[in-house]
Amino acid sequence: MKWSEIFTSSVGKKWVMGLTGIFLVLFLIVHVGLNACIWAMDNGEMFNRAAHFMGSNAVPRILEVGLFAGFLLHMIQGWMLEWQNRSKRKQGYAVSMGNQGSKWYSRSMGILGTLLFLFLVMHINHFWVPSRITGLDAVTIDGKQYHDLYREMLTVFQNNPLVVGLYTLGCISLFWHLLHGFQSAFRTLGVTNPRYLAFIENTGLVFSLVVCTAFALMPISMYMGWVK
Ligand code: HEM
Repeated sequence: MKWSEIFTSSVGKKWVMGLTGIFLVLFLIVHVGLNACIWAMDNGEMFNRAAHFMGSNAVPRILEVGLFAGFLLHMIQGWMLEWQNRSKRKQGYAVSMGNQGSKWYSRSMGILGTLLFLFLVMHINHFWVPSRITGLDAVTIDGKQYHDLYREMLTVFQNNPLVVGLYTLGCISLFWHLLHGFQSAFRTLGVTNPRYLAFIENTGLVFSLVVCTAFALMPISMYMGWVK
């Protein structure tokens, strides 16, 4: 494959999807781990310190630029693949294979990805924009000032069932998207041995379940008053 074909051929696009997908999976591990600090029951101190570290150091800030580029590339290539597949399908099969050929969520990656994109627009607006652009209240911890991102989360989730519902839907979409995406990325990158594939599929299931449940429990526990 020539370099230029990475963005134009179907195989090239799938490679880009696989590699950016694995990068985004790594981001989700860091994100869910950092956010889990809200359950430290210390009035958000550990969470605010960890978020401060991510927001103020050069390496995470450079990674942040890579992260946004990764999301953009993943979405654009995903929409292009979806569009290509749809126009192929229009020429169509005489009989629909239904669930026999593939699972519903594997055939719905485009729509699940689009739901996640809408979730991300709302989400970035809730936290990233105040944290990096418009400003947040400060809190003093051990004589040092930090952004009070923890209080911002409480404000967003505490009295807002609609927002909590939308976040829960976002996490459900993420679960189905990851359930297919996790193992698909490894297949695209060349894992074909059935034993490894079975291991990757099981790891993908556990990963999707744990990460999406933990994310969904964050807004829910603030709304329910389990963390204050
Ligand atoms: C559902 C529970 C979630 C909560 C409570 C949450 C909370 C947050 C907070 C507080 C920030 C701001 C961090 C900062 O500015 O330092 C943030 C940033 C971000 N979140 Fe989430 N998040 C959740 C789920 C997700 C999911 C599922 C995704 C991806 C699919 C995601 C993607 C992002 C991105 C891309 C950023 C900006 C990253 C950065 O530049 O630091 N989040 N999130």
